[in-house]
This record gives sequence, structure tokens and C-alpha cells, in this order.
Amino acid sequence: MVSPLVALTPKVQSAIAAALGDDFREADPVLRPSQFADVQVNAALALGKKVGAAPRDVAARIVAALDLDGVAEKVEVSGPGFVNITFSDAWLASLLADVDQDDRLGVPVEEPQNIPIDYSAPNVAKEMHVGHLRTTIVGDSLARTLEHLGHHVIRQNHIGDWGTPFGMLIEHLLEVGEDSPEAELLVTDPNAFYQAARAKFDAAEQADPDGSAGDFDIRARARVVKLQAGDPETLEHWHRLVGMSKVYFNKVYQALGVTLGDENLAGESTYNHLLADVCGELEAKGLATVSDGALCVFLDGYTGREGKPVPLIIRKSDGGYGYPTTDLATIKYRVGDLGAHRVLYVIGAPQALHLNMVWDTARLAGWLPDDVTPVHIQIGNVLGEDRKILKTRSGSSLRLMALLDEAVAKARGLIDETRPDLSEEERATIARQVGIGAVKYADLSVAHNSEYVFDLDRMVSLTGNTGPYLQYVVARVRSIFRQAGLDPLTQHAPITLGTPHERALGQQLLGFGDVVTEVGAEYEPHRLCGYLFELAQAFSAFYENCPVLKAETPELRESRLTLSALVLRTMVTGLDLLGLESPEQM
Ligand code: ARG
Repeated sequence: MVSPLVALTPKVQSAIAAALGDDFREADPVLRPSQFADVQVNAALALGKKVGAAPRDVAARIVAALDLDGVAEKVEVSGPGFVNITFSDAWLASLLADVDQDDRLGVPVEEPQNIPIDYSAPNVAKEMHVGHLRTTIVGDSLARTLEHLGHHVIRQNHIGDWGTPFGMLIEHLLEVGEDSPEAELLVTDPNAFYQAARAKFDAAEQADPDGSAGDFDIRARARVVKLQAGDPETLEHWHRLVGMSKVYFNKVYQALGVTLGDENLAGESTYNHLLADVCGELEAKGLATVSDGALCVFLDGYTGREGKPVPLIIRKSDGGYGYPTTDLATIKYRVGDLGAHRVLYVIGAPQALHLNMVWDTARLAGWLPDDVTPVHIQIGNVLGEDRKILKTRSGSSLRLMALLDEAVAKARGLIDETRPDLSEEERATIARQVGIGAVKYADLSVAHNSEYVFDLDRMVSLTGNTGPYLQYVVARVRSIFRQAGLDPLTQHAPITLGTPHERALGQQLLGFGDVVTEVGAEYEPHRLCGYLFELAQAFSAFYENCPVLKAETPELRESRLTLSALVLRTMVTGLDLLGLESPEQM
């Protein structure tokens, strides 16, 4: 199963070798979309310089050597030395017939690799913020895509479930009682719980020495010590606290429809028992030294102001371990125990320095061999209308669930207006699919490392590069088949590409395998969004110009129905790789 571009590449390469000599066998043919044909070969321009010949002559020699029998209808040299190629309709139709017979729609199966993906990673007793929302959505799409390409994806949700605030949080939970409304906040509004604990702690710490504000601070500190010492009763309280946070995380995951569950949790606490050994091993290997009482790794190339070396602190002067130590244990585990070929981290862009220092240290320690690639998929900020990081909404602090509810409510408003004929239940389902899809698509359709402004009205719009626009195309194709009383999944007939709109749609359909492969290699879901948006546009142009159910002949009707069914299958599969649902109707 090959796309036109993949099929063409070796043919042009051998023509270049035949024209210019075997040294050029590997030359990049520089295939690009063309305004005047289906594709153009731009290689002659650079090659002309190399061999000291006029690019037009080089282009003519390539054309002379090019064997595109049965593939191209027209091959011509144009401009300063481009080769314009127009594929034959019959050849495109035969490739489409292959895709039509293929359950994978032309997406290849790759040599399977073990790929742990670190994504989502919210913190216990804290609200997930829009940054966590974005790593959750982008990470989930990458997990789905790599899995679809045949890899063994291991989801790793590195939640923040350990550290000094847990003393204060446990004491607060004990004071309010586990069944109290205050404790319930852990599930509904975690920030409020955290802030209440923090306020108590600060008040107790500041107001004393007379102890009038109580000894909450003293108890909280003692609790941290007990927690770290593994005191069973304290661990039990900690488990309950984390358990309540999990309920909250799962609520968000379920609302979002992401593929994360309890079985994917591998939080910071998972690595506690390994931290002492991590430090010991680094010390024994001469990679870590004590500086100002703290155990540090000094790496080449990391310097701060005035050239002062920046250390990676792996044991603080009070003996405690921190975030870097945990991440060292984490990569050691992912490579050593999970057998990772690649390790993906879908994390905010500001953590790049941290990750690079961890990886460099791991390489030196021998925990990260050269043939294992760690990748930081950097997540950019989500901004409010004021172009500042989105943290609050109309004065109150931002609650993720409230935001998702708002998106669904907006979608509901639209559906109520456009489809009053549908039942209450149907409209509720569509509103959920469209509202959540809108938010997810907005995160996915821009480059993952760029900023964007969170604008719900634009996201749920039915026009433009939005989730709802793509979902609408799905619903429209389904309605064609409903109208005809046919099943799109059993619609297979010979395809003819008689008009420019059919031809353009057919070519777009042939590109699906290439784009999914690219997303898996470059970790850029926005490319799939761009592809699906173009597919939606190509379908709309086709549908406006080429009657389907009322086609001139029965053969043409079958061909157009088959093209439409292929659009549906491609769209549904593509949206699923992005994590979007495909509504039955809209
Ligand atoms: N919990 C962290 C945060 O909220 C993200 C953790 C990312 N994963 C990791 N292995 N460091 O910023």
C-alpha cells in the first residue's frame, strides 16, 4: 500500500541516477505540490549547480530517463528547471481501490517499539490547569497514533503525589474529617482544599510564638517526617488523600474521553525506594559531588550568570530528594525495566532545561544508551483573552470541569437551535461529543509548542479549522447513506475520477497513510488536523459539485458513494487518533 508520493520517489531517484550517474542515487528528488500539475520535481535546480549544467538541461535529462508508464499522463519541464508531473486518473483510481480494500486505509504497520509516554501528570490536591489539559490531550493523541502504527505504548501518568506539602495536606484532612464537605473539595475543587490547608499552616507559623493559632505547623512538619519514614498509619492517610485526588483526575479523564486510567498511574512516589540508590550510584561513579551540603551533578555546558556552573541537585542539604532525583529514577526504570526504544515526555516547555540535565546525567551514568532517544514534546501556554496565561475566568480561579461544562453547554445551545427535531437524549450526546471535541481540537490543531488564545466561541464554531466542522462532515456523509438506506461500511465499488473535484478528493484520500506516519515520527498531531481539515474541504467541494445519489449513471453513483464512504472511514479513523468522537448526526 503506497501513496502517490511514496510510489514516485524511487522512480524519480533512479531517473536522476540514470541521468547524472550513480553518485546521485540517493539524491533528494525534492517533490513538492505543484500549481500546474499534481506534483513537481525540483531537484534539477540544486543538481544543475553541482554538475555544472543548466537546470533546464538537467531537468530534460531526468525526464528522458523517467519511466512513468501507467503512472503519469503528462510530464513536462517548466520554468527554470521544474519537472511537472500529472498522474493518470486510472493510476490514482487503482491506488484508491487498494486503500478501499485496506482496513488500515493505507496506514503502514511499523516495526514495533516500546514507547513509554509521560503525559498529563497533574498534582495531587491541586487543580489541573489548562497546561495539564493540553499535555493530557496532546499526549493521548500521540499514544493513540503510535499504538495505531503498531508500537507498544506504555502510558505513564507521573502524578505529583509526594513531597513536603503532604504533611500539611494530611493534617488538614485529619482535622476536617474524611467524610466532611471540606474533604469532598478534593474531588470537586482541589485548589480550595489546598488553599485551606496552606492558610492554616501559614497562620499557625506566623501568629505564634504564643501558640494562639494552634500548632498546625508543628504537626504538619512532624507528619512529613513520619511520611518519609514510612510510618504505616501516616501512609494510610496519604493513600486516602491520593485516592480522593484520583477520583477527581478520573472524572476529568472521563469527561475528556482520554485513554488514561488507574493502571497508567506511575506517580513520583513510585520511585521513592530507588532514590537512595540513584544517588549512591552516581556518587560511586564519580558523577556526583557534595557542594554546600547538597549532593550535586555538575554537567558540561550548563552555566548560569557569569559562567557559574548550574548543578543538578539530587540530594538537598537536609537529606531530602527532589524532582530531578525522581526523574533520574524514572528514566532508569523506563529504559531498564520497560525496555524503551524511545521515551516521550509531553510536558510544558519551561521544563526543557530540567529534562536535558536529567538525560545528560543518565547518559553519563549508563542508564540511557545512545540508541534510546528521549524526546521532549514541549507544550506551549494557553492564554486568556488578555493574552496572559489562562489562570482565572471572570475573577474566580479557573476550574477545569467548569470549563468543560461550559464548552458542552455552548455546543448544546448550537444543537438545540439547528436540530430541534432530535430527542433530548440525542442532543445531549451530540453536545458532549461536539463540546469536548471542540476543546480537544483547539489544543491539537496548533503546533504543540506554540501559544494560543482560549476562545470557546471560536472552538465550537461550525466553520473554519475546528473540531465541530470536521465532525459535521462525518455527520453529513452518514446522512447521505441513511437517506439512501445503505451501509457505508459495506460500500465498495470501482472508483472513477472523472471531474477535478473527484480527482482532488481522491488524491487527498491517498495521503492519509503518509500523514499518520509523519505524526508518529515528528510528534505533531496538528499535521493530522491540517490533513483532515483539507479532506473536509475537498469533500465539501466534491459534494457541492458532484451529485452523489442523483449521479448521471448507476456506475457513477456507486463510485461517488464509495468515495464518500472512504471519506467517512478516513475521517472517523483520523478523529479517533486525535481522540475526537464522530457523531451519528448533527
Ligand atoms: N507534575 C508535574 C507538573 O505538574 C509534571 C510532571 C512531568 N513528568 C515528569 N516526568 N517530570 O508540572
